[in-house]
Amino acid sequence: MTVAVYLPLEEKTTWWVEMLQGLLPGWDIAALDDITDPAAVRHAVVWRPRPGDMARFPNLEVIVSIGAGIDHVLADPELPKDVPIIRTVGDDLTQRMREYVALHVLRHHRDMPRQLRAQAENDWHAIVVPVAPNRTIGVMGLGNLGAAAAKTLAGLGFATRGWSKSPKTIDGVETFSGADGLEKFLPECEILVNLLPLTDSTAGILNADLFGKLPKGACVINCARGGHLVDDDLLAALGSGQIKQATLDVFHIEPLPKDHAFWTHPAITVTPHVASQIDAATGGRLIAANLRAFAETGTCPDMADAARGY
Ligand code: NAP
Ligand code: GLV
Repeated sequence: MTVAVYLPLEEKTTWWVEMLQGLLPGWDIAALDDITDPAAVRHAVVWRPRPGDMARFPNLEVIVSIGAGIDHVLADPELPKDVPIIRTVGDDLTQRMREYVALHVLRHHRDMPRQLRAQAENDWHAIVVPVAPNRTIGVMGLGNLGAAAAKTLAGLGFATRGWSKSPKTIDGVETFSGADGLEKFLPECEILVNLLPLTDSTAGILNADLFGKLPKGACVINCARGGHLVDDDLLAALGSGQIKQATLDVFHIEPLPKDHAFWTHPAITVTPHVASQIDAATGGRLIAANLRAFAETGTCPDMADAARGY
């Protein structure tokens, strides 16, 4: 019974193979590209597998995403449709996202980009901003990460609202759901944080129409997936002043191409998909526990729902 491991960087694959072998003694763990008997593979542990990678294994029972999102697995047009997917989540991933969201919301709230521009000109320019309860932050997606981020922002005192597919109740957070809820949610969001999964219904959701429904001068933080954002619509909204600043952690193509306009735009902060990378040692332990549970019971707490896309 073989576990096939694949990450885009060969040295990372080797590292994960060795780590999982240590955590799952008695299991046969191998780099996907080294597998000589595809019929023996029952489990795959992957980040951004290549199209056709999973279809090579006729007896595959489960695919583990090394991360919270499963869009990178579902993107494979040859993916065997009936193989369940486990995602990798946990306190470590949630904590890192809470830190990232708090950092960048506070940066936008306190207008740090403008403050730093003033410093560059030796300009003693005191920027006075509203106190947090008078600043409304909206979080799109209230799952594992979005709900934790919203609670963190509410804990900092912000007027916090959140939007999800189904109705939610979160202490200190005003919640909205569904298409109607989005129309009521957007007009107050001075800083918008995207933590939706990338699915057919959320692809391109950060577009001109949505930006137009935010208050003029809103800020946008995208820490979910590059596919949520229509790049040219953001550039146009920044140009018109409808959006004041944006922080982007994720992109259509990663690494972000060197000549992309986002790199040098004065109102955009680019981070290289680091909002919440799972700590490899913690992730390894979570994956080993999930694989053991799945092998024993046919399920585990972190099963994704491939049909709905997250
Ligand atoms: P999750 O637990 O699956 O939660 C997803 C949330 O989005 C749920 O609240 C869901 O609503 C909502 N949602 C889904 N489709 C929707 C729609 N069409 N309309 C409105 N709401 C919708 O996901 P998570 O673990 O919080 O992760 C979210 C995403 O963050 C991941 O998919 C990944 O892309 C991204 N991520 C990025 C990084 C990074 O470093 N940048 C790290 C980790 C994850 P319901 O609850 O009603 O279903
Ligand atoms: C990272 O982007 C993840 O999906 O965990």
